[in-house]
Amino acid sequence: MALPKKIACVGSGIIGSSWALLYARNGYSVVTYDIEDEALSKSAVLIKNMLTTMAEDKIITERLVGPTIERIRGTTRLEDISDCDYVQESAVERIEVKVELLKKLERIVGKDVIIASSTSGLSANAMQAAMAHPKRMVIAHPFNPPHLMPLVEIVRGDRTSTETVEMVYSLMTSLGKVPVRVNKQLPGFAANRLQTAVFRESLSMLADGVVDADGLEKLMNAGIGLRWAFMGPLVTGQLAGGTNGLEYYMDHFGPLTTAICETLATWTIFPEGVKEKAVAQTKNLPLVKGRSYAELVKWRDQNLIAILKERGYLSG
Ligand SMILES: NC(=O)c1ccc[n+]([C@@H]2O[C@H](COP(=O)([O-])OP(=O)(O)OC[C@H]3O[C@@H](n4cnc5c(N)ncnc54)[C@H](O)[C@@H]3O)[C@@H](O)[C@H]2O)c1
Repeated sequence: MALPKKIACVGSGIIGSSWALLYARNGYSVVTYDIEDEALSKSAVLIKNMLTTMAEDKIITERLVGPTIERIRGTTRLEDISDCDYVQESAVERIEVKVELLKKLERIVGKDVIIASSTSGLSANAMQAAMAHPKRMVIAHPFNPPHLMPLVEIVRGDRTSTETVEMVYSLMTSLGKVPVRVNKQLPGFAANRLQTAVFRESLSMLADGVVDADGLEKLMNAGIGLRWAFMGPLVTGQLAGGTNGLEYYMDHFGPLTTAICETLATWTIFPEGVKEKAVAQTKNLPLVKGRSYAELVKWRDQNLIAILKERGYLSG
């Protein structure tokens, strides 16, 4: 299957706008569709701001900013995507909206046009249920913001064709993304399951006073997270085991692992008071206090860009 030529980004919120920027940056003509005029105006501002940060950090040259913006056209008329040959769906995360939208999309674009959904957690099977040609639908779950974060999880539904999965895999690779095929449909796919395991234990330790919010952030950003930026849990274990590697590590740290696992949080619904404590302490973090969402996004993107440049994911 050939790579597409013209991309539709359906739903122009945070994720749809960032996808649109990624595709346009890579030379594609992009049509962004949303049901709200206001969403399209916000999207245009967001894309401009993201590009400004990219230019300031020299991962796009100033003279390419204008042409990149010009390759993106916003619309509230779904018919305007009819000549697109790839759809990235990033509408609001509600199953009834997605099911209805997919049905409409199928009436607008050709039957072989791939429809990749950005959903963070809806079931591919549920989304495919009412589709006439479900084999062309797949989940391509990005990490926020998709124009910078390399990872894209590709999750197939029972009726997705292998050709669709492989085409999306190739497209993502061609864009410099790092796609990972997730072979079973589970809530949170794979990456958010890992993230949720850490989140649950973080909230529990915070609620129990084991560490405060500032300490919790540092445990990750000055410790575990620094290594995780370039190696995963298995290679971390391989090195922790010294010259005898992961096997020694698992034998040696087996009892400690058991002791930890026996005391890890197991709740499935936020325990009473946990949310209030986490929200209050997070608001008061020096990094967060008094800073607007836009300032925090800029700070995040600058840090991400610095790491991505260092890791060879981005060049100017
Ligand atoms: N925010 C994240 O961190 C993140 C990360 C990965 C994936 N996602 C997924 O991306 C998708 C979009 O999330 P978001 O954070 O950009 O949300 P958002 O609220 O910023 O944007 C959603 C957009 O969808 C539009 N919309 C609503 N109904 C629509 C319809 N019928 N047709 C077209 N557009 C419609 C809304 O007007 C809005 O502009 C969701 O499926 C979400 O799970 C989000």
